[in-house]
Amino acid sequence: MPITIEAAQPSDLPDLIALLHTCDLPPEGIEAHLETALLARSAEGLAGSAALECYGDTVLLRSVAVDPAFRRRGLARQLVQASLALARTQGARRAVLLTTTAAGFFRRLGFQPVARSDVSAALAGSIQFNSVCPDSADVLARDLLP
Ligand SMILES: CC(C)(COP(=O)(O)OP(=O)(O)OC[C@H]1O[C@@H](n2cnc3c(N)ncnc32)[C@H](O)[C@@H]1OP(=O)(O)O)[C@@H](O)C(=O)NCCC(=O)NCCS
Repeated sequence: MPITIEAAQPSDLPDLIALLHTCDLPPEGIEAHLETALLARSAEGLAGSAALECYGDTVLLRSVAVDPAFRRRGLARQLVQASLALARTQGARRAVLLTTTAAGFFRRLGFQPVARSDVSAALAGSIQFNSVCPDSADVLARDLLP
């Protein structure tokens, strides 16, 4: 069975949280953003994920995770590109993310480091910014062209 990228369903929540734990990412708050989460499904179960938190014209791209058995075959790139396409359909003009481990991966996709003080107040008030991701996490952003 090929890997497909599809919108998450409420019933996917336990498997998604398990995937985030496997990938050492914080699951906090993900249940509130399932409607804008995309999943890569394989015959063996969830292979990857990416989700958006929407704050006005800015999205927080979060939970970009690929199960170790499926890495280095372009899956995360596909998930990010599909998420950014979804963000554009929702009218977003900018995407921001936090990462402690994968800044190099995101830079390849057009993200550039920014200061924490450069993000909008709404986004700076999110759970990810405030309590989940350490102060040492890199903040990266990119504009979303129409
Ligand atoms: C980061 C992660 C999502 C990458 O998943 P992946 O499916 O292996 O990535 P891809 O295969 O799509 O990689 C695309 C390109 O980025 C490169 N790349 C992958 N991970 C990288 C990393 N951590 N740093 C730099 N480059 C990386 C790949 O080599 C590939 O390059 P290529 O096109 O020249 O071959 C995965 O390693 C992971 O789940 N890590 C733990 C969770 C995490 O840190 N998520 C990000 C924060 S939300």
